[in-house]
Order: sequence, then C-alpha cells, then structure tokens
Amino acid sequence: MQARVASMEDMKEARLAGPGQGGGRVFPTGMLKVFLGFLLLGVGLSAAGMYMARHTLAAAAPAIFRPCLGASAGAGEEQPLDGLERWTRPPSRARHAMTDEELLWRASFAPRVRPYPFPRVPKVAFMFLTRGPLPLAPLWERFFRGHEGRYSVYVHALPSYRANFTKDSVFYHRQIPSKVAEWGQMTMCDAERRLLANALLDISNEWFVLVSESCIPIFDFNTTYDYFQNSSQSFVMVFDDPGPYGRGRYNYNMTPEVELEQWRKGSQWFEVDRDLAIEIIRDTRYYPKFKEFCRPHCYVDEHYFPTMLTIEAPQSLANRSVTWVDWSRGGAHPATFGRGDITEEFLRRVQTGRTCLYNNQNSTTCFLFARKFAPSALQPLLVLAPTVLGYG
Ligand SMILES: *[C@@H]1O[C@H](CO)[C@@H](O)[C@H](O)[C@H]1NC(C)=O
Ligand SMILES: *[C@@H]1O[C@H](CO)[C@@H](O)[C@H](O)[C@H]1NC(C)=O
Ligand SMILES: *[C@@H]1O[C@H](CO)[C@@H](O)[C@H](O)[C@H]1NC(C)=O
Ligand SMILES: *[C@@H]1O[C@H](CO)[C@@H](O)[C@H](O)[C@H]1NC(C)=O
Ligand SMILES: *[C@@H]1O[C@H](CO)[C@@H](O)[C@H](O)[C@H]1NC(C)=O
Repeated sequence: MQARVASMEDMKEARLAGPGQGGGRVFPTGMLKVFLGFLLLGVGLSAAGMYMARHTLAAAAPAIFRPCLGASAGAGEEQPLDGLERWTRPPSRARHAMTDEELLWRASFAPRVRPYPFPRVPKVAFMFLTRGPLPLAPLWERFFRGHEGRYSVYVHALPSYRANFTKDSVFYHRQIPSKVAEWGQMTMCDAERRLLANALLDISNEWFVLVSESCIPIFDFNTTYDYFQNSSQSFVMVFDDPGPYGRGRYNYNMTPEVELEQWRKGSQWFEVDRDLAIEIIRDTRYYPKFKEFCRPHCYVDEHYFPTMLTIEAPQSLANRSVTWVDWSRGGAHPATFGRGDITEEFLRRVQTGRTCLYNNQNSTTCFLFARKFAPSALQPLLVLAPTVLGYG
C-alpha cells in the first residue's frame, strides 16, 4: 500500500517538475535533433494509423458498434471513445443478447450524483404489451409525430411474432427480446419488468407507461407529457378491497414480507417514474413470495406491483390509473368499443367525465389513455382525432 502511494507521489513530482528542474540534465544539441526527428515521425505514423483504424474498423464493425467510433467519421473531428456520450446515448436498437437476469442487473444501474452533467431532455417511455399486431398503430403514429426526442417506444410481443413496420414508423425495430406472457401469471409481471428494464437502458427515459394494443391516447402529446412532468406522483391504481376478490386472495405464507393489512389490488396499466421503475426491477424481496403464493385464483398482475409499491413508496403513488376503462357492462372483462361506438360525445365523456385529485387539487383531467378499442374503431378515431383528441 505504502509502496503504491510512494510511486504515485513520484509520478506526480516528475510531472510537476518543469524542463531544467528534473535534475539539471541537458541533451547535447545533436541528440536533441535526432530525438525531435523520431518524435515527429512517431506523431505522423500514429495519426495515419488512427485514420486507417477508424475507417477500416467503421466499415467492418457491425452497425451496433458504429456510434462508438464517432458519428462524425470523416468530418475531421476526433470523438473520444470514452466520452460521456457512451453512457448517455440510448442503445441504438431494442434487440440485445442479454438474458433476463443480465438485463435486470444492467438496468438497475443508477447515478447517485445530481444534477445530470449534460442537457438531458426527459422522455416518456411507451411500453406496448401485446401478443402481436398493433391495429391502432396509425393513431399512435399521429400522436407521436413531431415530438421526436421526447418519447421512446418498446414493444413486447409473442417471441414468434415478427412485426412488419416500415422504416419511417415509430414502431420500426422496437420489439424487445420477449417471452410468452399469460394473463394472471407471473410471466405477465416478468414481461412488464422486461419492458421496464429495457426502457431503463436509456438514461433519458423518465416516465414509463404501460399500454396495450387496444389502448388509445385521448389527448395530444404535449398535454400527456406535461401531465407526467408536472405530477408529484406516479399513476398506479391501488386500493384495499376487503372482499373475496381482494383480501380474499391473500395467502398467509406471504408473511412477514407482506401482511394482510398491506395487501393491495389495482389495475395492470400503470405509469411510474424512473425511481419506481428501478424499485420494481430490482425487487428480490417480494417477487419470490408472489411467484409462489399468488397463483390463480390470485391474479398476480393485479396485486404484485400495487402491494409492493405501497409498502416501499406509498407517498409516490396517486393510487389511480390514467388509463380509462369501462367495467359498467359487468362481467369478467371490460367493454370493448368498435366502429359504432366512436362519437365525439363518447370521446368527450372519456376525456373529462370524472373528477380526481391531481397534485392535491380537484381536476377533471383524470385519464390520458383509454381502452379497450377494437380494430374497427381505428377509422372513426382517425377522423375525430384532430378535432376531439387534439392530434392527427
Ligand atoms: C407486411 O407489410 C406488407 C406491406 O405493407 C403487407 O402487404 C403485408 O401484408 C404485411 N404482412 C403482415 C404479416 O402484416
Ligand atoms: C409541444 O412542446 C414542445 C416543447 O415544449 C414545443 O416545442 C412544441 O411547440 C409544442 N407543440 C405544440 C403543438 O404545442
Ligand atoms: C404543466 O406545467 C406547465 C409549465 O409550468 C404548464 O404550462 C402546463 O399547463 C402544465 N400542464 C398540466 C397538465 O398541468
Ligand atoms: C396513496 O395511498 C398511500 C397509502 O396506501 C398514501 O400514503 C398516499 O398518500 C396515497 N396517495 C394519495 C394521492 O392519496
Ligand atoms: C374537491 O371537491 C370536493 C367536492 O367535490 C370537495 O369536498 C373538496 O374539498 C375539493 N378538494 C380540493 C382540494 O379542492
């Protein structure tokens, strides 16, 4: 230990010592010329070497590495390989070769120093949880148009599904490595954690919204963005249901991690900020309990995140979802709306038909998204979007 400190001190002194102070030794003039000659030759050779390395490497390297070699190759500007950009630039593609275990570990990296030492524009990560096609994609495309740099898109679909979006689509190549997810099973929560973890790899993602293929945005992008940005809380629905479909699903084997009074229920469709997203993907305390003791008729995707987040961060939750849904028709599934249901009056009612608390104030803007919409709803929605929804 002491030897290392001593040698570091030596180096520092050697660097601090200016010419002529390093011991008073002087080169003979002839030797100095030879030395300078070699120095110049060396500089020239290494410059040529670096030029060649950059150009041959850039051509040979797979596209994924190219950003590291400097986007400005050829512009004459040197870009350091180890600059901050290496940490701030989003991954160039949604696909990667990490296992779930590796991904969750990597995604849990979080800076402990604030503020960010670069101009960070916070983004909304839209996480699409779907089995396959996104029939309402044209509506979403219009919602996103013109807001590049303030959102990102991730799609979790069946592993066998091959999306077919063209290059100009916001969904192009946004499918993350996915696995089969079944309703009410832990594989569904795994899919949601996978989406969160992939989205966390982009340091600029600040708000994380889970949406489905039957969801639509009911306000314009800026309203949606401001709603998240201005909110002091995240929008996770949480309630304590004393009945058979709430506390009735609790299993006493979950103690001491989860007590009966801590058991919560909520909707699957959440919005969380970056801190809560990390809280969810780093969890190893509650996960095994829910995996083992919340199985049908306990539907884990209705209990795991609401319960866990209420225990860990109750003050961060608005306890309501921003995704509107209609359970009024009764039954096990909410209503699905098709072509004939889409009128201006209907959409206005969805937009402002309820009151809720927003930052401790009464508000009539309680929802930003709505479900469930059938593919047949697309055409009338596209027609009404510019006047009623504010985009398109
Ligand atoms: C893929 O896109 C092409 C052109 O838009 C279309 O003709 C084809 O039906 C699509 N295939 C699938 C499986 O969606
Ligand atoms: C949305 O917000 C951005 C950033 O504040 C602004 O540049 C843009 O003009 C806004 N767009 C609309 C349609 O208001
Ligand atoms: C959010 O805050 C901005 C700026 O303070 C304001 O212009 C906007 O109306 C607010 N939006 C909402 C939805 O509260
Ligand atoms: C949500 O519920 C938790 C306790 O379950 C509470 O601490 C928190 O204040 C609630 N949030 C709001 C906005 O009421
Ligand atoms: C919200 O409205 C209710 C009545 O609708 C009222 O009792 C309550 O005081 C209001 N809360 C705030 C914060 O204004």
